[in-house]
Amino acid sequence: MKITERIRYVGVNDCEKQLFEGIWPLPFGISYNSYLIADQKIALIDTIDKGFEEEYLRKISKEIGNRSIDYLIVNHAEPDHSSLISLLLNIYPGILVVAAPKAIPMLKGFYGLTEDDILAVRDGDRLSLGNSDLTFYHTPMVHWPETMMTWLSAESTLFSGDAFGAFGALNHGITDTVFKCGCPPGEHSHYSASGFHDGTADAFSMYSDEMIRYYSNIVGKYGSAVQVAMKKLSHLKINRICSAHGPIWEKQVTRVEALYDRLSRYEAEDGVCIAYGSMYGNTAEAARNLAQELSSIGIPVTLHDLSTENISTSLRDIFRYNTLALGSPTYNGGIFPPVEAFLHAISARMVRGRNFIAFGSYSWAPASVRLMNDYAATHGFSILHPGISFPQAYSPEKCDMKTLTEVIREALK
Ligand SMILES: Cc1cc2nc3c(=O)[nH]c(=O)nc-3n(C[C@H](O)[C@H](O)[C@H](O)COP(=O)(O)O)c2cc1C
Ligand SMILES: [Fe+2]
Ligand SMILES: [Fe+2]
Repeated sequence: MKITERIRYVGVNDCEKQLFEGIWPLPFGISYNSYLIADQKIALIDTIDKGFEEEYLRKISKEIGNRSIDYLIVNHAEPDHSSLISLLLNIYPGILVVAAPKAIPMLKGFYGLTEDDILAVRDGDRLSLGNSDLTFYHTPMVHWPETMMTWLSAESTLFSGDAFGAFGALNHGITDTVFKCGCPPGEHSHYSASGFHDGTADAFSMYSDEMIRYYSNIVGKYGSAVQVAMKKLSHLKINRICSAHGPIWEKQVTRVEALYDRLSRYEAEDGVCIAYGSMYGNTAEAARNLAQELSSIGIPVTLHDLSTENISTSLRDIFRYNTLALGSPTYNGGIFPPVEAFLHAISARMVRGRNFIAFGSYSWAPASVRLMNDYAATHGFSILHPGISFPQAYSPEKCDMKTLTEVIREALK
């Protein structure tokens, strides 16, 4: 697949895997992107995950015919991008693997590579491909310590690894300039990476949900590393971002960069992520009432049942929205375990600067609201209201969601 005369896309869609990294659901699939740069020398940027060997090799040989690959650039040694390194070394024995020094023990440990197979590059090193050259920028912890990005100045293109990536297979095109569903605009809606859209939807609106979910789930812990990387790359005039997952960004580079900048600063939009767990439905009923009250006055809100949903989507929404309303019944003198797990996940990602409200049912000795508030205080959240602990069944008298809604409305003014 031609991106430019020099850059070819040889990645694949994975619509079979249920859980990425064994934990994150893939309702719309995922792409593992890999790119060939064909100059006097041929460089391959990253490989793909296992399971697509035949398709991958077919795509590569379609692009390069009988030529060999000179360099395999490993921007990221995580197996979703490095799994086919050994296969490639067998088929194209002349390949030199190019990677940051911290990738070396990983490539040895995962694939048995030796020092002779690898060219370690320092931050800012260049590699000539003939008429163009590659510059390597170390971007540690975006998303692993060995992570780097590769800049092809002749095409103003950044090969960014996981950064700027999104979940969602590429069913409608590879670059954001060619996203079309092929049907007349406005006449129908169709299923895309992030739900139903009509034929006028652009790639950014189709993929931004899945981009935020990807960021929050996988890269979210490393906001400060993302900021460092973005500063390091700020002198580049980037016209194209070739990420390791999701669309190639050409038209929407500015929006994508702005989104990453905002997410990695932990800045969020006005809106409320309501997340709750519930055993017998009382805390759940309170949560639904709060959602209805907030919606009725036009405040954006999402509602997540932590007992049944994977935390992936609640994490997406705690990164997206500036207010968290958290519901938990009291459980053995503590917080209900699925809610505690969510708090742990937020904590691990060092989410900060959020408004906070807690509520929950109990039967004999309330504890959950107090403990959730303690948590919020330790994490520097703004506690908008002392929260509401209510005994047994939910009722508007025991748990006044109109008051909580009013407090939230004031805070979001
Ligand atoms: C395993 C278990 C442990 C509980 N521990 C406490 C507790 O420590 N203190 C308390 O007041 N209620 C406790 N409860 C009672 C629940 O908090 C109470 O029934 C509440 O209404 C459940 O809310 P829900 O309908 O949202 O699940 C416990 C219930 C269960 C099943
Ligand atoms: Fe990764
Ligand atoms: Fe990845």
